[in-house]
Amino acid sequence: MKNIVILISGGGSNMAAIVRAAQRDNWRKGLGAEVKAVISNRADAGGLAFAREQGLAAEVVDHKPFPSREAFDEALATAIDAHAPALVVLAGFMRILTPAFVERYRGRLVNIHPSLLPAFPGLHTHQRALEAGCRFGGATVHQVTADLDHGPILEQAVVPVLPGDTPEALAARVLTQEHLIYPRAIAHFLRQAA
Ligand code: GAR
Repeated sequence: MKNIVILISGGGSNMAAIVRAAQRDNWRKGLGAEVKAVISNRADAGGLAFAREQGLAAEVVDHKPFPSREAFDEALATAIDAHAPALVVLAGFMRILTPAFVERYRGRLVNIHPSLLPAFPGLHTHQRALEAGCRFGGATVHQVTADLDHGPILEQAVVPVLPGDTPEALAARVLTQEHLIYPRAIAHFLRQAA
């Protein structure tokens, strides 16, 4: 069985979409894969309650007590590795990961980013897209490499920018698409890796 571990920092709507897709499409039978655990760097992450309701391991590795990124990433990796993951999924995980962490999960670490990469890596993507006068926004599922938000692209979704859009309105339109492309991209990725 290919175990999936999902990392979150907040509401976890992408995580929930992946968990639901795994249940609905029976990834266990079809892909030989299942979501095993959800790990958050914040104890107040809304997604943890959903994960618990679904019977998943829902754990917190709080980054704050650690003296360095390296020390936090080491503790995070220990928590992840307890579930022997074939794939680690970043779903709204808002911490920059060290090169050592990225190397440890090379070829089995994916992320979703709320822009049409390579445009707008980093934060405040929707505000920057609006300020740049973009006619389209979107989201990108990509493999994670040491170069932040620059790994090989697995899937993208495009949405229009509408007159009067605010960053929040654009973010909500993009998020709806994220929930469609992320489960699909993961299933495709696992199938190819088989
Ligand atoms: C999503 O829009 C995701 O693309 C973004 O955070 C949101 C998390 O929402 N990720 C990043 O900005 C990563 N740099 P969710 O917690 O409801 O899935």
